[in-house]
Formats: sequence, structure tokens, C-alpha cells
Amino acid sequence: MKKKVILSGSTVTGDLTLGNYIGAMNNWKKLSKDYNCHYFLADLHALTTAQDPKKLQERIFSFFAQYLALGLDPEENTIFVQSHIHEHAELAWILTCLTPMGNLNRMTQFKEKSQHTSNINAGLFSYPVLMAADILLYSADLVPVGEDQRQHMELCRDIVVFFENRYGEGILKMPEAYIGKQGARVMSLQDPKKKMSKSDENEKNFVSILDTPKKIEKKIKSAQTDSDTVVSFDSENKTGLANLLTIYSVLSEKPIDDIVKDYEGRMYGHLKVDLAELVVETLTPIQSAYADYMKNKDYLEELMRKGAVKARVRAQETLKNVYKATGLVPRS
Ligand code: TYM
Repeated sequence: MKKKVILSGSTVTGDLTLGNYIGAMNNWKKLSKDYNCHYFLADLHALTTAQDPKKLQERIFSFFAQYLALGLDPEENTIFVQSHIHEHAELAWILTCLTPMGNLNRMTQFKEKSQHTSNINAGLFSYPVLMAADILLYSADLVPVGEDQRQHMELCRDIVVFFENRYGEGILKMPEAYIGKQGARVMSLQDPKKKMSKSDENEKNFVSILDTPKKIEKKIKSAQTDSDTVVSFDSENKTGLANLLTIYSVLSEKPIDDIVKDYEGRMYGHLKVDLAELVVETLTPIQSAYADYMKNKDYLEELMRKGAVKARVRAQETLKNVYKATGLVPRS
């Protein structure tokens, strides 16, 4: 039987965080065996905020190495860089011409982002259309993402309907979001009402997967909790503690109830010390694999090239069918 297709990616800004790892990449790795997985670096999406060209290029290599270090096997999966497949931008344009402004205006991530920047460019506004193109180009069945991408996924599904209404069915595949039951929204360490984000200006709010053990300990020990002392899970009233328990549970693969029992009669501080240790234990092998990959840029470039060759096959096929359906002449 043909394996179902999975596609997901991350925008190349900052370094991947514990939030990305728990909400997305941890699932990516698990899905690799049973699905035909495509994981890419969304570098075109990164351009929606101002980027220093030299740093962006370095970060693309660093992100690629981070994906590999997380255990994504380039033989088993198709791992590639978005801008290396020009079909993403082409399909995005066609879909942009089908997407009403009103639908894009409702995107909460656009509203949030545009509140914090003076650079409200058209790319930032149409960001979710490019994301839809990423997904539809590979006829993905499933898209493993964190909770924050749910609205973008719904828009992607709406775009399929807009396309079908204009050009007919059977050309674009209707994708489904795959959102994990636990850890789909890891919260900021200092402000647990908002999500942990790699582009947060305050680095105390997130743990980067490349943070040193010392930094990790410091950040987790100083994570905001409440003035109570009993360890219990209450995501409404004890958001900070609930966030730490969730991270603990996902990384240790232990149910939250069991963890709560383990800390009966013990203080928050004990939990924080143990959690910091667990995070360091999880990230140390990833960091050492990362350091090895970063020593060999030529190898990374070679893998990028191979990934693009693999990815292009599916992308070209979809774009050819879209061109035919829309009345454009497919490139021979
Ligand atoms: P990005 O780079 O913000 O995040 C990458 C993945 O990590 C998830 N995530 C989180 N999960 C749990 N808790 C958090 N605090 C947290 N922060 C981030 C995100 O939900 C995401 O799954 N627009 C996307 C990139 C993208 C994409 C795509 C994804 C572009 N095209 C096509 C899937 C399919 C983004 O910026 O993710």
C-alpha cells in the first residue's frame, strides 16, 4: 500500500525551541517510519520580517543541521529548503489570486505580528497562502503542526475549496492538520499566558535546543510559577506549573498524574531542578550531533541538493496539473 504523505516545516528565524521540538519535531520523527514525510525549511517565509542576508544564509545551514540533529534521516525523509523549489512561489501566486482579502484579514497571527512591527508588508499578510502552497504542492494528507497553526490550516482547506469551485476537483488534495494531544502549545517560561516563540525578544522566555546546560538550568529554575507550593496540574489557575509539567510529561513519556504523584510533599523547586536535568539530558545528544553536522557545510549543501531533487518530482507534477486546470501552458 502507498504510504500517506506528510509535509511540515519551520520558518527560519531564531533557533528551534523546546516549543518547536515538543509541538512539532518530536512528532515529525515519530511519523517518519510510517509515512512518506517531507520536512522543509521555510526560508521564503522568513523574508516576511527584515533579515540580515549574511545571517539568514548562516541560519539556513544551521536549521538544516538542527533538523538532522533532531534525528530526521535524510534517506528516510525528504528534507529540503523551500526556496530551492521555485514551484512554491508559483503556486502561491495562483492561490493568492483565489484568496479573498477578508479571509486573510481574519488571521490572528497576522494581527499579532503586525502589532509588533512597523514592517507590515504584503508578504506578511499573504504568508498563510504561501503556507497553503507548501502543503498543496506535495498533495499532503497530513500536516503535523502545533496549535498555533490551526487557523492557517483551516485557511489552507478553504483555499482548496476556492480552487475547486473555480477549476474543478481532483487537482489539489484536501489536507488535514495533525495536532498532538499533548504539548501542542508550549508556553513562554516568564509569561505563561503566551506561547513559547523562537522570535521572542526576551530569551528568558524560551529554551533554545542549542542552549548550554547552564542556560537551560537558569531559565527553567527562574520560570514563572505561582505562590502555591503543592504540585498539581491546573492549566487555568497554575499555567506556569502546568506548562512545566507538560514539558516534563512529553520528554519523559510519563503521564502527568504519575509525575504529580512523584512530587507529593515536595516543592516546585525540586520539580524545576529535575526538569532542567531532563531537558539537558534530552538536548545534549542533539547538540553534539548538531556540532558535528555544522563542521561539514559541503555535506549539508549536498544533502540540500539531494533533498531538492527528491522534492521537485512531486512539486512539478502538481504544478503541471494546476497550470493545465487554470489555462496556463505547462512548461515543457
Ligand atoms: P514555526 O517555525 O513558527 O514553528 C514550527 C512548528 O513548531 C510549532 N510550534 C509550537 N508548538 C508547540 N508550542 C509552541 N510554543 C510552538 N511554537 C511553534 C508550530 O506550530 C510549527 O508546527 N508557518 C509555519 C511554518 C510553515 C509550515 C508550512 C508548517 C510554513 N509552511 C507548511 C507546516 C506546513 C511556522 O512559522 O512555524
